[in-house]
Amino acid sequence: MPGLSLPFEERYWPFFKYREACKRSRQDPEAFWGEEAGKLEWFKKWDRVLEWEPPYARWFKGGELNASYLCVDQHLTGWRRSKVAIYWEGEPGDTRLLSYSLLYREVNRVASVLKKLGVEKGDRVALYLPMVPELPIFMLACARIGAIHTVIFSGFSAQSLADRMNDTGAKVLVTADGGFRRGKAIPLKEIADKAVDLARTVEKVVVMKRTQQPVSMKPGRDFWLDDLLKTAETLVVPEHVEATHPLFILYTSGTTGKPKGIMHSTGGYMVFNHSVYQWAFDIKEDSVYWCTADVGWVTGHSSIVYAPLAYGAALVMYEGAPDYPEVDRWWEIVEKYGVTIFYTSPTAIRMFMKFGEQWLKKHDLTTLKVLGSVGEPINPEAWLWYYHNVGNQRCPIIDTWWQTETGSLMIAPAAGLDMPPLKPGSATFPLPGIDADVVDEQGQPARPEERGYLVIKKPWPGMLMGIYGDPQRYQTAYWDRFKGMFFTGDYAVKDREGYFWILGRSDEVIKVAGHRLGTAEIEDAVISHHAVAESAVVGKPDPIKGEVVIIFAILKADRVPTTALKGELAEHIRTAIGPLATPEQVYFVSKLPKTRSGKIMRRVLKAIAMGVAVGDLSTLEDAASVDEVKKAYEELKKEV
Ligand code: WTA
Repeated sequence: MPGLSLPFEERYWPFFKYREACKRSRQDPEAFWGEEAGKLEWFKKWDRVLEWEPPYARWFKGGELNASYLCVDQHLTGWRRSKVAIYWEGEPGDTRLLSYSLLYREVNRVASVLKKLGVEKGDRVALYLPMVPELPIFMLACARIGAIHTVIFSGFSAQSLADRMNDTGAKVLVTADGGFRRGKAIPLKEIADKAVDLARTVEKVVVMKRTQQPVSMKPGRDFWLDDLLKTAETLVVPEHVEATHPLFILYTSGTTGKPKGIMHSTGGYMVFNHSVYQWAFDIKEDSVYWCTADVGWVTGHSSIVYAPLAYGAALVMYEGAPDYPEVDRWWEIVEKYGVTIFYTSPTAIRMFMKFGEQWLKKHDLTTLKVLGSVGEPINPEAWLWYYHNVGNQRCPIIDTWWQTETGSLMIAPAAGLDMPPLKPGSATFPLPGIDADVVDEQGQPARPEERGYLVIKKPWPGMLMGIYGDPQRYQTAYWDRFKGMFFTGDYAVKDREGYFWILGRSDEVIKVAGHRLGTAEIEDAVISHHAVAESAVVGKPDPIKGEVVIIFAILKADRVPTTALKGELAEHIRTAIGPLATPEQVYFVSKLPKTRSGKIMRRVLKAIAMGVAVGDLSTLEDAASVDEVKKAYEELKKEV
């Protein structure tokens, strides 16, 4: 079949725009990305598009720009000045609207506040805030003065917050008295206080008022944002930062207990986001764009803040729970603001499926044009439900595969170029300029329909710059597995037509409701409990959340397994990591199945948790221990 030697998009697609873009990106990647970069406003043009010294890619070196300028200032000269930038809705129903000119004013004032607190270019600022407009405002204010923001999801515990602040060496922490979630006020300042006690570098804490709940303020360290704003200046000239200056550090889970501080550049990240949001979502200045993620995750960074604002679109931001006070809250918001692009997770879609279509029928959703999905594989059933019931068969489902490390969308249907025929459950093809492939154990291209590892074979502008403070881990986590290729950690297959199907993680990372957690991270938390001697954590498939956390724990010799202790352990994990890591089930066992080299065999544990047969044990890497594992398996089955 001679056709099979052609690149996939030339074999199957009569579509011109996508094909042309792919062709150009392949023939001359630097010219291609240089042209994309030229669509942004630079203070100084780059000297070189790409400097690639594996594993480090430096994009647009020599160029100077500012992300806050791109997201805000550039919209002030024309009609966008007075158009909506942010539609914000609080959980109790309060609302705020910010035009681009108002956003500009707020970003400048907050930048002035940060400067007066002594924040300088390159300093790290930790943001631990609820979903309020101040979160993007502080991010943009940091970018304006060249400070590096690190957003910590407000569902994380004091310990998790402290760990991240210590790792980045954050100088200032920005938080709130609290935030609303399902009708309750979450005591963010109280959690932040505990974290700051453990944080070595934090000198000042800025507190915004959201819930008005009483909080303690430490004189000389803690400041109310409202007070600081009283003397703030209204103009802070945006710093001309180098393209390779870090825009932010965002922590994500890997295969060890310590989260990785993923570092993104200003130039590459902004260029990449600007391009891919147009390609995949066809975003425009008149789009009303709602990404339901929390800004605390990478999806929120790119899809709530930097990409939509760079386009001058209007973004919708909602503070609270999706089903509060009623399960049609989201559809009410879509109708109210006339959302045109809606972007959410498969977990949310499956939850709404469970609630039933009647909740959607109450609302006019005809403004919707494009629907997106992200964070975990979407099962065809959920895809079809989304397509029929939310989009009324009018809107394409843009299933977007990407990661914290990739900075933005990598594999997704290109609705803004020309749409490929969609297949429910497939993210379709890599976007232009992305050289993704599926390879076998040896790094050779996998055959069609053969499961392999998803890799990226060429650098792309949104690629992470590294792991903050840990170059060795950057090398081993991403570049040592396959020579010359970026290892994503995901399993995938390509079908006979070249469509990509992402099958989930191949490593010890789990995805609970789309939230990325490391099993090692949770194990560390479990064994920090005084009753526990040893522990193993696995993710168990769940019909709604994708995966849930299951804990196996061996107690210390003198400890008695009780139901109360199970509850205590669950609470202990909530306190150590945050509510998102709360286990679905805790099993007390006397032994854990291990290989000779001492590696816990999660496959066996997973099978036990799922109540299915463990499968062929003879393929274990350490065949000598098969009998032992079998014995442990039989014993465990009885215990669980
Ligand atoms: C998973 C989220 C299947 C994947 C943007 C990846 C997906 C991890 C998809 C990154 C998708 C994300 N289909 N799986 N469309 N999108 N994933 O860093 O396992 O929070 O490696 O970034 O989520 O999670 P992260």
